[in-house]
Amino acid sequence: MQKLIGWIDERLPIVNAFEKHMSKYYAPKNFNVWYMFGVLSMVVLVNQLLTGIWLTMSYVPTAEGAFKSVEYIMRDVEYGWLIRYLHSTGATAFFVVVYLHMFRALLYGSYQKPRELIWIFGMIIYLVLMAEAFLGYLLPWGQMSYWGAQVIVSLFGAIPVIGDDLTQWIRGDYLISGITLNRFFALHVVALPIVILGLVVLHILALHEVGSNNPDGVDIKKHKDANGIPRDGIPFHPYYTVHDLVPIVIFLFIFLAVVFYFPEGGGYFLEKPNFEPANALKTPDHIAPVWYFTPFYAMLRAITYPFFGVDAKLWGVIVMGGAIAILFVLPWLDRSPVKSWRYKGWMSRVWLGIFVVSFIILGVCGALPANEQPYWLAPLCTGLYFAFFLLMPFYTKLEKTKAVPERVVFK
Ligand code: HEM
Repeated sequence: MQKLIGWIDERLPIVNAFEKHMSKYYAPKNFNVWYMFGVLSMVVLVNQLLTGIWLTMSYVPTAEGAFKSVEYIMRDVEYGWLIRYLHSTGATAFFVVVYLHMFRALLYGSYQKPRELIWIFGMIIYLVLMAEAFLGYLLPWGQMSYWGAQVIVSLFGAIPVIGDDLTQWIRGDYLISGITLNRFFALHVVALPIVILGLVVLHILALHEVGSNNPDGVDIKKHKDANGIPRDGIPFHPYYTVHDLVPIVIFLFIFLAVVFYFPEGGGYFLEKPNFEPANALKTPDHIAPVWYFTPFYAMLRAITYPFFGVDAKLWGVIVMGGAIAILFVLPWLDRSPVKSWRYKGWMSRVWLGIFVVSFIILGVCGALPANEQPYWLAPLCTGLYFAFFLLMPFYTKLEKTKAVPERVVFK
């Protein structure tokens, strides 16, 4: 066995790679519960890839066959219902863990120097993940699939000059049709999964180059022992590989409870109109995206008047795009000398709280019909969302921070 491993290692340095990324990768010993969402994102990614492959075996990507094939998977394919619910609930789980994973980065300043690239790769993953979820949602070819795609694709029409041609180019037709379905299928099943996998590899490589941050935001590489090993670090394998099994089991327990007992999520994971086949002649009463898009959908709808000669729809698209774009430059907006919120001043803490509350309220607004909410609420929360970022260079610079300990705090 030793000889065989040696033979392979001379040609492909797997032992070396294992040591570099696992057994000799020193992670801070003070990771807390917020640090489990990275590995959970990987678990969900694997679930999506495997169940997706099996769904593809019985799914038919045509306007005539799509809805029927999903019913066939649910009723006739052995354990088809389980595979489908694992995949549809997996989409929700993906966004739950990714949102918590991103929030952890906000709490502990994990996007700050030298981890800007990890954050940027993360943001690209987030964008592609949103596209992946949107494309996948058309595939069951239900009423909400159809009209949701209609609303989102038509947004491109708001772009001046090229808007209409661009919309038609994306659809491949004058309306959402079987042609659109077929190309969305190709992108959802082949193109974007490859892109996501590649980005996750880059995300981890960038992380391992500079090392993980931690809840104290202390640089563990500053204090090394005689062998050059960080005093506050422990080898990722076996310590964190074993340690991570606990959150994985707890996560699977919760996830499977939803899959078995609550797969439709009360109409929020699988929406009611999607149990009716797509009908181009009948618009559902209330079109709303799945919960993970609703904060951005609320921002899209928040502007209802034209300003500076730009119509309301285009403003909506600009605001929604801006809400995502601003996250990309976060590492350069935070000018605090400390990373973790534990040592930041009160202004950063208050603004983080305002940001979280506004984002949640926007999520609720986006899920409700426009006429069933105070007209000023979504615009107000949109303003606060942007204020959190745009004022960040000032309040992070002005406020008084607490002294950061030399070594990590670990009880
Ligand atoms: C498929 C989606 C993703 C996967 C599989 C993934 C995986 C991981 C893993 C395994 C880690 C190391 C463990 C940990 O710190 O939790 C990590 C760290 C990190 N991720 Fe992600 N990630 C994903 C998406 C994102 C997104 C969307 C963002 C932000 C926009 C992001 C930002 C970060 C940051 C800043 C770190 C470093 C954290 C630190 O050292 O404190 N990730 N990611």
